[in-house]
Amino acid sequence: MTSDSRVVFLSGRIVNLRPFSRTDIPTLTRWINDPEVRQFIASVLPQTEQQEEKWVEKLGSDDKDIVLAIETKEGLLIGSMGVHGINWKDRVCTTGAVIGEKEYWGRGFGTDAKMVLLDYIFNTLNLHKVCSAVYMFNKRSLQYSLHCGYQIEGERREHVFRDGQYWTLIELGLFKEEWLPIWERYQKTGSVR
Ligand SMILES: CC(C)(COP(=O)(O)OP(=O)(O)OC[C@H]1O[C@@H](n2cnc3c(N)ncnc32)[C@H](O)[C@@H]1OP(=O)(O)O)[C@@H](O)C(=O)NCCC(=O)NCCS
Repeated sequence: MTSDSRVVFLSGRIVNLRPFSRTDIPTLTRWINDPEVRQFIASVLPQTEQQEEKWVEKLGSDDKDIVLAIETKEGLLIGSMGVHGINWKDRVCTTGAVIGEKEYWGRGFGTDAKMVLLDYIFNTLNLHKVCSAVYMFNKRSLQYSLHCGYQIEGERREHVFRDGQYWTLIELGLFKEEWLPIWERYQKTGSVR
């Protein structure tokens, strides 16, 4: 696809974020059923293409959830990132992310997508606080969240059952003033640290 015809909502250093379309449904179905991907997220039941189609059709139907596709600059769909449960009175939300193309894990794509999403959350939506939650065993997700500025606010002990045992859920939170110095560094150097 040429860059002219491509839909871009947010533009990072190495990714673009855009709305999902119906043509993404088979890829979404593959990701959500993949055991290596779903071990890190809440999904435990098999998901049909019809269920994914309904999910895509519902996107954008309220002002509480904003979900965007993550694409490489070459236009390859690699993941999904969202702002969920937006509370417009308290100005609090929760972020979530899945890079479904596993060969793109640990290469900075999640960090780039998260940093531009946080720019949108703080500087466009004017939200006050961003939360997230990570399973204790998901070291990569915890690491990239901490690199983006999220602070550990608490632990829910034995909150998640996975792979035959209970795991702690780590609760994270982030304010604009904690994120801003990291964003300024990231814009200058391309590194969050
Ligand atoms: C979590 C996720 C979005 C992160 O995106 P990503 O592109 O893989 O992450 P990045 O490459 O930007 O950053 C990962 C960081 O974690 C580090 N990391 C990778 N594997 C790690 C491990 N096993 N232990 C500790 N740190 C690890 C990387 O070194 C990197 O830190 P660095 O900047 O110091 O090098 C992505 O891996 C993913 O979608 N995973 C599967 C689904 C998932 O876990 N979703 C989140 C649920 S809370």
